Amino acid sequence: MKPVKKAVIPAAGLGTRFLPATKALAKEMLPIVDKPTIQFIVEEARAAGIEDILIVDGKSKRSIEDHFDSNPELEMALEADGKMEKLKMVQETTDINLYFIRQSKPRGLGDAVLQAKAFVGDEPFVVLLGDDMTRDNVPLTQQLIDQYKKTGESTLAVVKVPHNDTQKYGVIDPMEKVGEDLYQVQQFVEKPNPENAPSDLAIIGRYLLTPEIFEELENTKPGKGGEIQLTDAIDSLNKRQHVYAHEFKGRRYDIGSKIGFLETSIEFGLEHPETGAELKAYIKKIAKDL
Ligand code: UTP
Repeated sequence: MKPVKKAVIPAAGLGTRFLPATKALAKEMLPIVDKPTIQFIVEEARAAGIEDILIVDGKSKRSIEDHFDSNPELEMALEADGKMEKLKMVQETTDINLYFIRQSKPRGLGDAVLQAKAFVGDEPFVVLLGDDMTRDNVPLTQQLIDQYKKTGESTLAVVKVPHNDTQKYGVIDPMEKVGEDLYQVQQFVEKPNPENAPSDLAIIGRYLLTPEIFEELENTKPGKGGEIQLTDAIDSLNKRQHVYAHEFKGRRYDIGSKIGFLETSIEFGLEHPETGAELKAYIKKIAKDL
């Protein structure tokens, strides 16, 4: 079994839910307190032993490349001012094997993943979406890799969602539970209405995929919204190889929605050593008048 050493981060979507902020700025560069969201995602991949990361970007995404590049002028200024902690922080993001490729048009998540075909070759790999930040004792990407070591097959992360929310997600039709938090899957359904949803287990933005997914993506016709859906390709793959779902029970932050982004900012702000105490006092003060 080949080890999982590569990750793909699709970041070429239009980010329409965050307009006008995302008209010229990549949504992945919006910060939670002081760190761009994409840096949290890259850190999760690295914590799971991922060595090479491909970011699939689109127009207005240059800031992502710049963020992970060195900035000699800034570094010299920080050094001259003796701001060594900040210098370390700035330099940390440059010491990563990152690669970039453009998706020429936002033709869907499936098409974005297909851009990674040459980079991935014939190895298993993980896909991490910037819309979900996660936290657990063992990082979610590591949990998927641990499951993969047992089955050698593709494994997606799912979480239990309220039944009325199924139309926001790809949902699994579980066949049977085959291990701790692990389901063999009958079918994947993209955004089902609650009446038709086969379960409340919704796919979130972490996928461990075998390279056979690329053949499926190449044969996938545009689905809902005229986009090439990754879920459709995974459903076809499931007819050839088993695809498993791993139920994530840690904390998931839905930062692709405005409310989720605000909640996450508050939670991280309360934990941040520079802002925690003042933010807590502020929330208590304004909560009285709500
Ligand atoms: P979303 O469906 O959340 O779309 O994409 P979006 O453009 O990012 O955001 P909204 O909904 O318009 O606000 C899910 C993931 O797939 C990537 C996005 O960057 C995001 O990480 N994606 C989507 C692509 O890379 N290319 C696409 O063509 C579509």
